[in-house]
Amino acid sequence: MTSKSIDQLCFREPSEIPEEFQFETFNQTKYLIGGVLHQWDGPFQEVISPICIKKPDGTIDRKIGSYPLLTKDEAHLALEAAAKAYAKGSGKWPAMTVRERIKHVEAFVESMKPKRAEIVRLLMWEIGKSLPDSEKEFDRTVEYIVDTIEALKVIDRTSSRFEIVSGIAAQVRRAPLGVTLCMGPFNYPLNETFTTLIPALIMGNTIIFKPPKSGVLLHEPLLEAFRDSFPEGVVNTVYGDGQTVIQPLMESGKIDVLAFIGSSKVAGILKKQHPFPHRLRCVLGLEAKNAGIVLGDTDIDLAVKECLAGALSFNGQRCTALKILFIHKSIAKRFLELFCQSVEQLSAGMPWEQNATITPLPEPGKAEYLDSLVKDAIENGATIFNKGGGDFVESLFLPAILYPVNSSMRVYREEQFGPVVPIVPFDDIEEPIQYVVNSPYGQQVSIFGRDPVTMAKIIDQMVNQVCRVNVNSQCQRGPDSFPFTGRKDSAEGTLSVSDALKVFSIRTLVAAKLNSSNKELLTRITRDGNSTFLSTDFLF
Ligand code: G3H
Repeated sequence: MTSKSIDQLCFREPSEIPEEFQFETFNQTKYLIGGVLHQWDGPFQEVISPICIKKPDGTIDRKIGSYPLLTKDEAHLALEAAAKAYAKGSGKWPAMTVRERIKHVEAFVESMKPKRAEIVRLLMWEIGKSLPDSEKEFDRTVEYIVDTIEALKVIDRTSSRFEIVSGIAAQVRRAPLGVTLCMGPFNYPLNETFTTLIPALIMGNTIIFKPPKSGVLLHEPLLEAFRDSFPEGVVNTVYGDGQTVIQPLMESGKIDVLAFIGSSKVAGILKKQHPFPHRLRCVLGLEAKNAGIVLGDTDIDLAVKECLAGALSFNGQRCTALKILFIHKSIAKRFLELFCQSVEQLSAGMPWEQNATITPLPEPGKAEYLDSLVKDAIENGATIFNKGGGDFVESLFLPAILYPVNSSMRVYREEQFGPVVPIVPFDDIEEPIQYVVNSPYGQQVSIFGRDPVTMAKIIDQMVNQVCRVNVNSQCQRGPDSFPFTGRKDSAEGTLSVSDALKVFSIRTLVAAKLNSSNKELLTRITRDGNSTFLSTDFLF
């Protein structure tokens, strides 16, 4: 990847785009509230793609469509619809059996599958994600839903019996919490929105969801499936400015659960807007500045490979990305050389182009922000070590490998969420350890090394600082059955396929002293199928 190549890179004329990836303007005019797809006749938000299209006169075009800019009135209608469908816990959906709710979610996932190509194309155009990664995001989401159904069956099977302790019989089940507001991030707009929305839904909560600013249109092909698969008001959508549509929801005090993936600053604002903070349950996925710590005795080729994937997959726009690398001084030069060689082999291009791993960035002004981080690091003594590193055109930014980075530089602390890789040389292992200990974040860390005694010692120190210690492996969320969480400003609540079902529900039990009349009563209720909750029905 040379500085020359960025001129030839990247942005295409319409005629250079293969037919299957061409994009026709997509104007979304509908929104889903109360089981009805309403036609919007108010103002619209223009959708600007990270992908620039070269026009014959040399200008570029990035407009790909629009979506409804709803107001607080529609936000209130969405809230009313979700609250009505929940009906303080006695609505059709929360009162339904698990077996029935599963059937609705199965119907939804079946309606979702034929939309794959359309959603993948929208992922590429709205957030610049490469074709294989966009396909992976869709498939992983479908798999997540299927796994969620299986995990719920397992929970339900364990609950389909009575426990008897100290002469008291009890049946313990998980019950819903209420109206849930789901807000996902732009980097995984489908997957991460659904990793909260689906578990919240299947546990019997009713939903209002707001897609991230970049990543709205790709949800449109699913609106009919949401409308047709669930009772009215169970799933509602809002779009637009957060202060206009989210603040009134939070201030109403009628949101029971906030599922938000984004910045801790916004999460803090939203929580404070709720008048009864003790009633509000929060499931939050926030910032991280995961460190890779590479010891002197490490398998350097393996460390380079893992650090490369960890730092630069999807342009470094993953909450789990390795956002700072600490390399032992004894191997720093060699690591840097091999790392830069690998980075220079990456291809930059449009999301549909083969092997394009560096693709346009969707956040407005992102390239300029990254450039400011790079300039600050250079002013404070770092050098860009890879050819063409930090060059940018419009939304396309070539990875910049910065070395040697130190604590006086912004990139040492700021979460860059983009293709800038700060590398810090160290002599004493205490430096990276203290970095993690004193970080405001606590999601994950990667440690690379061979000596069992040294590795064990660092692992034991790190497990009380972060929530996943990766050994000779990059940081990542998956597999989705593993717990995904963080300490400090990185998260609240734990997500995994089964943990998510737990955070969106509460254990409730029915208990009775086991005298003869109660035995008779419980027997008759369960035998005659009189209750949804008190039931020994086994879900196969
Ligand atoms: O952005 C955060 C994602 O949850 C990361 O998931 O590690 O599987 O890419 P991933």
